[in-house]
Amino acid sequence: MPLMEPYRVKVVEPIPILTRADREAAMARAGYNPFNLRADEITIDLLSDSGTGALSAAQQAAGAIGDETYAGSASWFRFREVVDELTGYPHIFPVHQGRAAERILFNALLEPGQLCVSNTHFDTTRANVLLAGGKPVDLPCAAAADLDSDHPFKGDIDLDALRAALEGPESVGVVVMTITNNGGGGQPVSMANLTAVRDLCREHGVPFFLDAARFAENAWLVVQREPGWSDKTPAEVARAAFELADGAVASLKKDAIAHIGGFLALRDPELAAQCELVLIATEGFRTYGGLAGRDLEMLAQGLREVVDPRYLAARAAATRYLGDLIKAAGVSIVEPAGIHALYLNAGRLLTHLPPAQYPGHALATELYLAGGIRCAELGTLYLGEEDENGVLLKAAPYELVRLAIPRRVYTQSHLEYVAEVVGEIAKNPERVPGYRMVSAPKLLRHFNCRVEPIRA
Ligand code: F0G
Repeated sequence: MPLMEPYRVKVVEPIPILTRADREAAMARAGYNPFNLRADEITIDLLSDSGTGALSAAQQAAGAIGDETYAGSASWFRFREVVDELTGYPHIFPVHQGRAAERILFNALLEPGQLCVSNTHFDTTRANVLLAGGKPVDLPCAAAADLDSDHPFKGDIDLDALRAALEGPESVGVVVMTITNNGGGGQPVSMANLTAVRDLCREHGVPFFLDAARFAENAWLVVQREPGWSDKTPAEVARAAFELADGAVASLKKDAIAHIGGFLALRDPELAAQCELVLIATEGFRTYGGLAGRDLEMLAQGLREVVDPRYLAARAAATRYLGDLIKAAGVSIVEPAGIHALYLNAGRLLTHLPPAQYPGHALATELYLAGGIRCAELGTLYLGEEDENGVLLKAAPYELVRLAIPRRVYTQSHLEYVAEVVGEIAKNPERVPGYRMVSAPKLLRHFNCRVEPIRA
């Protein structure tokens, strides 16, 4: 049996198909920054899998019965029941999206100068640690450095390095494991690694949290890859992961297949009381946290749907299928393929471009110019460091392009189209121009910078 999607299409939306000349004009207007493009200029949007999923009919129906009562909404109780069953945490707070949970948690947990240790912080997580006065430290496992190896759990943390950090001179305020590891190629974290992290944290009296944005996809990869877990359901694996930690922050824009939402969930009643005050002051009362009743209903239904093994199997197979087509076209990806995204190795494809000419950005831009595909780089444009004259001081370790796959949105032929466009570029990679910076803000420059192609 082929792994077909276990759903059919009920509502459709036309997608814009522009000419190359129109795309060139759009990109020039956008300062060659994909974040400045407009939706009506994009054919296939692989910029993010966050808030971009397709709702089910059941989610739409749930939204229609959303209870918009200010305090004590019936929708809140339904949401809480589902999150409680999924996680087992006694204190659950809704928030408008993941970064709000991060802000509230880190401000409550971190003393100025304390470390927050992670397998890899996602960028908003890192920013919220810094804003709370903490110091983010990434300790990915050694296997993560080899982009080509097919090690099944490259999202694991380096346990020796974690032990050293916990025993080191600097105080560790919290350990956060990102499942799956978005900043590290979308790779999963094993239950064995999470268990060892729990043991180390317990030994040192340090709180252990999950950044659980893609908890169901991580659970699916555990079922598929980790000995001893193959007979468990994704919901059972997810529950076991949550049980290991003291709490979790979650963006529900990913694995609740909804457009907005998140939660902060905790065991410690004192920490919960502290967080609740900030929640009420900055997000909303504890029974809505910045969300509408209809959002809470759609999130609750999405959380039920996302742990369906047939859905997860089809989604994982679709990403793997796209990865296989891209590799057959001669372009390397970060191995093995994860679920929410593929990460193309632009550095290996565009060997004629030095990091100072942003090969990742060059490939991402070319995907748009050649086929209307929007995506973004994770390379020197995002992570590099330059002096005030724009001279590159430090390149990113890799030049990657992330193709993030929205949930339930694109069909197999859309994915084949993407692979075809990648393949066309790969036939003559030396034709792809490099880019130079025109203007960039000091912080988070990849969102706002303007660049231009370097024409020979
Ligand atoms: N943690 C992880 C692992 C994420 O991937 C994200 C968002 C967040 C936290 C923040 O959640 O957006 O709801 O505030 N990732 C999106 C992405 C933006 O495209 O990967 P949020």
